[in-house]
Amino acid sequence: MKVLVVGGGGREHTLVWKLKQSPRVTEVYCAPGNAGMAGEAVCVKIGAEDVDALLKFALDEGIGLTVVGPEAPLTLGIVDKFRAAGLRIFGASQKAAALEGSKVLAKEIMAKYNIPTAGYADFTDAAKAAAYIRENGAPCVVKADGLAAGKGVIVAMDEQAALDAVKLIMEDRAFGDSGNRLVVEEYLEGEEVSILAFTDGTAVIPMVSSQDHKRIFDNDEGPNTGGMGAYSPAPVYTKDLEPFVFDKILVPTIEGMRAEGRTYEGVIYAGLMITKDGPKVLEYNARFGDPETQAVLIRLETDLVDIIEAIIDKKLAGMDIKWHEESAVCVVMAAGGYPGSYSKGAVISGLDEAAAAGATVFHAGTAAKDGQIVTNGGRVLGVTALGKTIPEAISNVYKAVEKITWDGVQYRKDIGRKALKHLR
Ligand code: AMP
Ligand code: GLY
Repeated sequence: MKVLVVGGGGREHTLVWKLKQSPRVTEVYCAPGNAGMAGEAVCVKIGAEDVDALLKFALDEGIGLTVVGPEAPLTLGIVDKFRAAGLRIFGASQKAAALEGSKVLAKEIMAKYNIPTAGYADFTDAAKAAAYIRENGAPCVVKADGLAAGKGVIVAMDEQAALDAVKLIMEDRAFGDSGNRLVVEEYLEGEEVSILAFTDGTAVIPMVSSQDHKRIFDNDEGPNTGGMGAYSPAPVYTKDLEPFVFDKILVPTIEGMRAEGRTYEGVIYAGLMITKDGPKVLEYNARFGDPETQAVLIRLETDLVDIIEAIIDKKLAGMDIKWHEESAVCVVMAAGGYPGSYSKGAVISGLDEAAAAGATVFHAGTAAKDGQIVTNGGRVLGVTALGKTIPEAISNVYKAVEKITWDGVQYRKDIGRKALKHLR
């Protein structure tokens, strides 16, 4: 079977890498893909959001299964269009992906189905939002309703920062129409964890837990990024939290979506805050996380094609999904200047040495130039290693990271450190 992966980042390289291992897959295509996966997939020059061109390609090429990485094509309805054309595709439908595409919808679903989350109010009017903030004070969190490439959430520690956020979203329209509405949310304290689950719309099977590192600098300092590293499992997510998250968060979300006529199929990603009152939902994503996928899928033992086919055929219930016991750590290596402006085209050295050191190097923003691999994005590589324990995986991954360099490279030195306090 020919498989098409939509997207071109580290998450998609990881999907290609895992799908390629399936004996049922003859050829993997990736649109647009990146230089680092060129040995494993045929890169197709079609953007991830060019749904019509992707559909034509899949029909012409006889693609048996399409797997969607990023949220944008999902919210554009790629799954609905492929299905209407009789193609098999893995991901959330447009109506289901709205759970990520609209923060207001997500909050309404959580309120209606009693899913634990931060208290909130939503607004279409900047003056009313400002009045609410003045009345309720800070800290609070201001969120643009629509997609904003991960930048539409402003954690405001004082009232002025919250008022500035309202202005940025609604008056300066920094995120365009995504700022037609906004949510002002109660500020939650605790440690974050990412719980991803497979679902066919009825059955829900959680994956192993993971934790992202959103800030650019060590000790969670500096601005937010797309994610600077991840590890799995996340020991903050203790065994006794699992039934609560399953029964009170994952299952009611999927049942609620079905009841709303938004049957949810694919991967649901619940970003949780483990507060002193228990886990609460910060956000939903309608897809695999990046870089969580690198740390999670490297631990997946079961054939991913089998899982995806079970989901498409609505036969996920009771499936025995197996995971490697080992822990995984992924360190993102980024271009200097990221998440601000950065340059491209620096020659990357040490990739083979890192692989020889036992790591799997997933590419995100890379390109091939004159026979060399060069930087071509903000997040460039996701170097990932396994170990018997988190400390061992940390040690393994940094041995490999240290082999790789380029002009201006930056990465966090503390990926996984937060896990250690729970392990002591
Ligand atoms: P989101 O895109 O909704 O996940 O928000 C991005 C980040 O903002 C999260 O990963 C949290 O670190 C932070 N955040 C979002 N909502 C809240 C909240 N209610 N309280 C505290 N931090 C939050
Ligand atoms: N790692 C955060 C995300 O994928 O949204």
